[in-house]
Amino acid sequence: MYIVMITPECAPIAKVGGLGDVVQGLSNELSIRGNVVELILPKYDCMRYDRIWGLVKTYSDLWVPYYNQWIHCDVYFGFADGLKCFFIEAHNGFFDRGTYYGQHDDPQRFAFFCKAALEFMLKSNKHPEIIHCHDWQTGLVPVLLFEQYQYLGMSHPRVCYTLHNMQHQGVTGGHIIQQVGLDPAAYMTPQRLLDHTHPHAVNLMKGGIVFSNFVTTVSSHYLDEIRYTEQGYGLQHTLHLHGQKLGGILNGVDYNVWNPGLDPHIPVRYNLETLDQKYENKTALRHRLWLRDEYKPIIGVISRLDAQKGVGLIRHAIFYCLANGCQFVLLGASANDSINADFWHLKHHLNDNPDCHLEIGYDEDLAHQIYAGADMLLVPSAYEPCGLTQMIAMKYGTVPIVRSVGGLADTVFDANYAHKPYHERNGFAFNDFNHEGLESALYRAIGLWYQYPQYFRELMENGMHYDFSWNYPGQHYLNIYHHIQEV
Ligand code: ADP
Ligand code: GLC
Repeated sequence: MYIVMITPECAPIAKVGGLGDVVQGLSNELSIRGNVVELILPKYDCMRYDRIWGLVKTYSDLWVPYYNQWIHCDVYFGFADGLKCFFIEAHNGFFDRGTYYGQHDDPQRFAFFCKAALEFMLKSNKHPEIIHCHDWQTGLVPVLLFEQYQYLGMSHPRVCYTLHNMQHQGVTGGHIIQQVGLDPAAYMTPQRLLDHTHPHAVNLMKGGIVFSNFVTTVSSHYLDEIRYTEQGYGLQHTLHLHGQKLGGILNGVDYNVWNPGLDPHIPVRYNLETLDQKYENKTALRHRLWLRDEYKPIIGVISRLDAQKGVGLIRHAIFYCLANGCQFVLLGASANDSINADFWHLKHHLNDNPDCHLEIGYDEDLAHQIYAGADMLLVPSAYEPCGLTQMIAMKYGTVPIVRSVGGLADTVFDANYAHKPYHERNGFAFNDFNHEGLESALYRAIGLWYQYPQYFRELMENGMHYDFSWNYPGQHYLNIYHHIQEV
């Protein structure tokens, strides 16, 4: 099958969070299974160009119609860890902002990207059977395909659209409809792109849901949450109307990237059989981060610092863990200035504490070393569509402590309370999004580590036995692709 992924992110070259990992992992899995997979991304100025191999200009002078003008683009081709990627360079500077997102005109930039991606496919005679789009940034692809590109000589590709996070929907002014050349009378309707919040607001994610052939989200628990609770952020009704083409597929983890047996970033490699060598990674992590104590557990956090991730609870956990015989390591970055300032302040405050290290920023190498060196990983999210860090942690024998929501509830089964046989329990979970809820899980986790190390070790091993690879979800996506080709 010939599949084109149109995406705002792909690890390791353009990654903000898990979306980048997912596009990379799923694309690799589909390629291994004999499919032809190509990716189309914006050519951001801030990409990891050192990780792109053989970058060349492959298509010159792509002129894209956009709001009564033609915008000049060139398209580049290169390999990102073996994946074939096309990069749209816009000469008006849309993707030269030194950052991926967070600009006032993000909806315009990504609406343009959708248009340019389709224009490129048309001009370069690409006829994929499947186009797979991700999140609000690519929501206009199926809309434009339906309206403007299906009669222009392209074959009739089917579109699969994946929702990674319903909080960000690309809601913007109605002018965007004209900018991409659509008729406002036909598209600014409640059944199509009109947002429920304002009579002139357009919702790009809604367009993606309405016009795709199939819509997935990244765990079955999150699918229920967005359909039936306020987690749908106003799109519950749209999801209800399109309920027959919805699916919840738990993301996989790319075990070629996240695997303690192969990981080039960690000092000592290990697997289930050689699990004792994990402790050499703990020692190395302690030395790297100046943690003094050899006999305390390390609790880690690797996260975007965002309200979604429970920053208030993370903050509380630092003090609780330090007061209860633990060491604490945090690696986090935020797009929000006040959250960043708060954690910088905290960092200075805790600077002299030999049991604590906060690293504010994005650091791929350190992330791998924390997964390998920590004893436990905390994920106290307010909501979590899937969450990859808990699954990565388990592969590294690091026990997750999570709030039981979204994909976290689908993957972490509490040591004491899960309705599962003991050998399937793999971590600690709590429900209440408050200090008491968090402490109830931390208390049990720290207690087990100190008092019953052999049981704690069983939890580590149980987690390592789980298969969260792309094997199963890869097959599931292929089944969906086949299904939508037939309807
Ligand atoms: P989200 O996509 O909501 O941020 P996920 O759990 O799906 O959450 O994915 C997060 C990904 O980003 C993981 O691969 C994690 O290791 C990585 N990550 C998060 N924060 C950092 C950071 N500060 N430095 C390095 N990697 C990070
Ligand atoms: C989003 C979600 C996260 C999910 C990731 C990949 O960033 O916040 O939970 O794991 O997408 O699907």
